[in-house]
Amino acid sequence: MKKIGLLGCGAIGTQIALAIDTGKIPAILTHVYDASKDSSIELVSKLNTKPEIVENSHLLSSHPVNIVVEAASQDAVKDIALSVLQNKRDLMIMSVGALLDESIYDILSDACKDFNKTIYLPSGAIAGLDGIKSIKNELESLSITTTKHPRSLKGAKFFENSDINLDAILSPTTIFEGTAKEAVSLFPANINVAALLSLSGIGSEKTGVKIVADPNTDKNTHHIEAAGKFGKMTFTIENFPDTTNPKTSRLAILSAIETLRKYCSNEIQIGT
Ligand SMILES: NC(=O)c1ccc[n+]([C@@H]2O[C@H](COP(=O)([O-])OP(=O)(O)OC[C@H]3O[C@@H](n4cnc5c(N)ncnc54)[C@H](O)[C@@H]3O)[C@@H](O)[C@H]2O)c1
Repeated sequence: MKKIGLLGCGAIGTQIALAIDTGKIPAILTHVYDASKDSSIELVSKLNTKPEIVENSHLLSSHPVNIVVEAASQDAVKDIALSVLQNKRDLMIMSVGALLDESIYDILSDACKDFNKTIYLPSGAIAGLDGIKSIKNELESLSITTTKHPRSLKGAKFFENSDINLDAILSPTTIFEGTAKEAVSLFPANINVAALLSLSGIGSEKTGVKIVADPNTDKNTHHIEAAGKFGKMTFTIENFPDTTNPKTSRLAILSAIETLRKYCSNEIQIGT
């Protein structure tokens, strides 16, 4: 069975660990790390098969794991991704926004080739990336409109230089329109889906992002439009938030579990 090291014991990390512990993912969780020791301890207490809590994130890949799973933060990706590959381990990344920094993307892409290892980016909170990847050479336009309750957008850097008062919004209101590249620094906590879309398609400078604050919604909705020589694709994903972390959609967690299950299984693989 494959051995897994887990970085980040929050909403996503906990559900991944439980999926391994209950046999949904055929693997062994051998090591975990979280910047909050309490979170690591709490996670381990929920598991029948106890992984070792390591003292820092770099120690995860110094143990003989097959893959390190990141479910922590963009900073964590910047800190450990290269050393995981150098230690000849595969890597699954949830904090995908980190890869919109082109220098990081290029370094990690080269390292995958140099060390013959793979980085997995689950589809996360969206669907349709299989189609977008297939037609990427024929894409002429690609955009995503994300609609969330104003409280899910609070704290974003964008509001430091904006007159918009989220508490005063009474009907659906477009608060940002630009490229995925611009959105990454202004809405870092909401950018993972736009990052995934642009990396699958035509890049972050050509991928349009619109963010709508809707005080009447209880869902995180993503509407994707792609057009080109192949024809046209539209996808709308209406996500319920996870109960433990409302910023994270349930689909993002299930997508991470499915990616890891596929990595750990020998089977017929469906989909592009
Ligand atoms: N790809 C997607 O579609 C998608 C969807 C949702 C969330 N995410 C991203 O996945 C990551 C995890 O999400 P979550 O909902 O589990 O978050 P969470 O806040 O519930 O848990 C994150 C955990 O990681 C720990 N952590 C943060 N930075 C760390 C670091 N540098 N080193 C070690 N531990 C660190 C925190 O202490 C926390 O326990 C976030 O970056 C989030 O933006 C991606």
